[in-house]
Amino acid sequence: MKIRIFDSREECLNAGAMAFIKYALANPAGTIGCCTGTTTEPIYEMVSEIYKKNPFDASRLNTVNADEYLTPKGYDKEPLNMRCDMQKVLWDALGIEGERANMPDCNPADWEAAAVRYEKRVMELQVGLQMLGVGKDAHLGFCLPGTPFQSVSHVTALSEELTRELVEDMGVDPKWGPFYGITMGLKTFMMGKAVLPIVSGSHKAEAAMNAILGPVTEAVPASILQLHPNCTWYLDRDAAEGIIGRITADGVRIK
Ligand code: GLP
Repeated sequence: MKIRIFDSREECLNAGAMAFIKYALANPAGTIGCCTGTTTEPIYEMVSEIYKKNPFDASRLNTVNADEYLTPKGYDKEPLNMRCDMQKVLWDALGIEGERANMPDCNPADWEAAAVRYEKRVMELQVGLQMLGVGKDAHLGFCLPGTPFQSVSHVTALSEELTRELVEDMGVDPKWGPFYGITMGLKTFMMGKAVLPIVSGSHKAEAAMNAILGPVTEAVPASILQLHPNCTWYLDRDAAEGIIGRITADGVRIK
């Protein structure tokens, strides 16, 4: 495990954008694991801005997203999805489309079968760089606390916090709940050749501390990353509050 701490959120996210581009340049037909959220979306926007000024070859690049909402059966409005966010912040700018823009289906007839199909697709593509946002409870994708370390892509019920986000940020009527999503599993994330969790803000400091310095436990999903042979954490100073002075950049604990 490696740890990089940046003085500001801006520098941290910028380093995330650089990691994306560095991977794409070295692996023009490679696969980047993506996710949506307030940490990773600005990173993709930075990538898109840089691409517009200095285009690089993204014509064979693949992306696979960590998770997607499932549209409740009988829902009478536009299907719930994060796909349009990816379109807006990354895919349109880089021309990533069709089979190269992978995300679980948000409205499949058979939810379980869609999750099985997604796992198969992720395994075919083989993620070279798995970028990850981390939740306040250290969740990854929609793998909430308690998700088995052996999990692969699956259907899961959203937590209260994620449901609140859906209702408040996306204006979804709570009467359609409980809400579900499809997410890559923790084992799926661990299959990425390199893993890059990116964390910003003091509200994530406890999660980062538990994930990096605490026991490896299913109660803290991101703690599984301690077992990955090539994982680098990018944190801004606020998110690193609980680990500064307690671990070296190479992940060695300071007594
Ligand atoms: C949500 C998303 C995840 C994301 C996480 C962190 O649960 N489904 O894919 O990584 O939140 O989001 P944020 O960066 O907004 O804190």
